[in-house]
Amino acid sequence: MRHSAVLIPGDGIGPEVTIAARFVLEQAGAQIDWHIHHAGLAAVEQGSKETLPDATVEAVLAHRVALKGPCTTPIGKGFTSVNVALRKRLNLFGAVRPVRSLEGVQTRFSDPGVDIVIVRENTEGLYAGIENQITKGVVTSLKVVTEEASRRIARFALDYAVTRGRRKVTVLHKANIMKLGDGLFVHCCREEARNYEDRIQYEELIIDAGSMRIVQRPEDFDVLLCENLYGDVMSDLCAGLVGGLGVTPGANYGCDHAAVFEAVHGSAPDIAGQGVANPLAIIMSGVMMLRHLASATGDDQCTLVADRIRDAYNACLMAGHKTRDLGGTLGTKEFSQAVVDHLAVQA
Ligand code: NAI
Repeated sequence: MRHSAVLIPGDGIGPEVTIAARFVLEQAGAQIDWHIHHAGLAAVEQGSKETLPDATVEAVLAHRVALKGPCTTPIGKGFTSVNVALRKRLNLFGAVRPVRSLEGVQTRFSDPGVDIVIVRENTEGLYAGIENQITKGVVTSLKVVTEEASRRIARFALDYAVTRGRRKVTVLHKANIMKLGDGLFVHCCREEARNYEDRIQYEELIIDAGSMRIVQRPEDFDVLLCENLYGDVMSDLCAGLVGGLGVTPGANYGCDHAAVFEAVHGSAPDIAGQGVANPLAIIMSGVMMLRHLASATGDDQCTLVADRIRDAYNACLMAGHKTRDLGGTLGTKEFSQAVVDHLAVQA
């Protein structure tokens, strides 16, 4: 069965790593017709007046899946985040970021290993982007929490945990300080969890103490359920347990049947254009996309291709073929070629 997907190269290292991921998926036998659309600074460079052109949003809705490179957001000035806008416009309310130890990437947490999935609310919280200068030197940033979005992400995380055979959902919050905002989020999660209490363990942790426990005993954690900002921060923190941003994939799901797959990392301007970025996180995001296509369409071939790619990159890492961020010497292209070479070994 052939599938179609949108490819959004993005900014910075985005074009380098998305080309590498497309190459690996194609060489592994993924039957995908790619439709390239731009977002971010790349869209403006291609002649668009908007950083998020309507054509890109419409293409994702039409093809239902996208593999997306990172988009740059200027710090403290300039345009608002294209990534946040895309998630909002497509109603991609839930981000899923699996963080797993890889056998070929040793870290101080490799034994007994990390297997955590972060579920992040993607549409509100401080990312609502509502900020006001009250007077010179005084600024407010509004944190938006709604019952509807909080219950929706709680059910999403609990359903995810049940269908993936996970054992526990931990809500991270700061409801001791933000009694109303985080208080509402926790209240909704707690109530929704009651409907799952025969299947899923549920716990709540204040995020500061929770962060400490995650780095002390990551093996105690399974699914982390977070509002937007905490989910963002915890994604990078947990990435650090397993080798960094180069090995942490992600997916954004919503209720309009659109799903966007993207690595947790950003556009990495410090290494952009040098050909040294690790494409593994976006390759892994591509594997998540294949598994999504398999379950959405019943095409078992997508699962086979996903398994082949996973086995190939694991074999590659085990053989010491790694990019610089993992202590290796390979560039972006060389690493993706090494993964493809391991595909050939399996065949
Ligand atoms: P970043 O994730 O781009 O980089 C942080 C550090 O990790 C850098 O030292 C970078 O070189 C390294 N790194 C990241 N990905 C890597 C890879 N694949 N291989 C090797 N090293 C890698 O985060 P930063 O610097 O905070 O953000 C840069 C830009 O990216 C900003 O404009 C930010 O807004 C944007 N961003 C976009 C995201 C998205 O599109 N989903 C997510 C996060 C940030």
